[in-house]
Amino acid sequence: MIVSGSTSQVLAASLARELERPLAPVDYQRFPDGELLASVPDFDAEEAVIVASTLSSDAHVELLQLQDALAEAGCAEVTTVVPYMGYSRQDAAFEAGQPISSRAIAKAVSTGTDRVLTVNPHERAVCDFFEPTAEAVDAAGVLADPLPRDLTDPVFLSPDAGAISIAETVRDAYGEGEVDYFEKTRLSGDEVDISPSDADVTGRDVVVTDDIIATGSTMSEAVAILGERGVGRVYVTCVHPLLTTNAYTKLSRAGVETIYGTDTVERPASAVSVAPVLAERLE
Ligand code: R5P
Repeated sequence: MIVSGSTSQVLAASLARELERPLAPVDYQRFPDGELLASVPDFDAEEAVIVASTLSSDAHVELLQLQDALAEAGCAEVTTVVPYMGYSRQDAAFEAGQPISSRAIAKAVSTGTDRVLTVNPHERAVCDFFEPTAEAVDAAGVLADPLPRDLTDPVFLSPDAGAISIAETVRDAYGEGEVDYFEKTRLSGDEVDISPSDADVTGRDVVVTDDIIATGSTMSEAVAILGERGVGRVYVTCVHPLLTTNAYTKLSRAGVETIYGTDTVERPASAVSVAPVLAERLE
């Protein structure tokens, strides 16, 4: 049985089709005081795969409730798929007195599951916070699927060195092209300074790839720099299209025509599904 969190209903349905497994009935309620109640009415199976991106604190609570509801229903084996793991960028205590938020959340999620899978976590090290260790699924290759086959001498760029493996994976899936990255310094929560990479991009089509687009600050800086260098077409892609607040407008104003990501985060820009990659791992 596939059990969907409210944030991942499209992906859960796609995964159920890929695996030819039934989609369990689910119910999500909110009480007048704001508390949540997620349940699995009439659940009757030995095994379940919960699919729930933890995009918000509510989504975390909902996931814990679904795990507990399955235990209550006598489900013997639970796999938890967290397509996008919220708080994964809080993977260290950056100042004295801070928590390691992703560790705290991973511990809680681990209590109600036998196995955890997560897609392209921001830092692989967060997988070790789960017990047993979560499996990191690299689904970035699907980002090559919507690209036109006639890219001109393509360059696959990541906005920082940390995301270069994503650019490499997309390039490999596309089949040809150079890989490079920008140097990035984060100035504040929504401001970054990006210095140009070494690749000569003049007249070439560029695919900029990242794990997450959140505020769009990183990408819009990168795209603005590319504009100054006379590039050809620019495609902006990411695994997790959070696209918070004014990110889409910011990127469009920076001159991006095509922005897309996967369905780990369900947004209008979620053009490709990670379901086939997850299904392969779960079969
Ligand atoms: C950071 O290291 C990540 O790889 C992304 O570049 C970052 O999270 C994107 O955030 P934003 O869209 O807010 O610049």
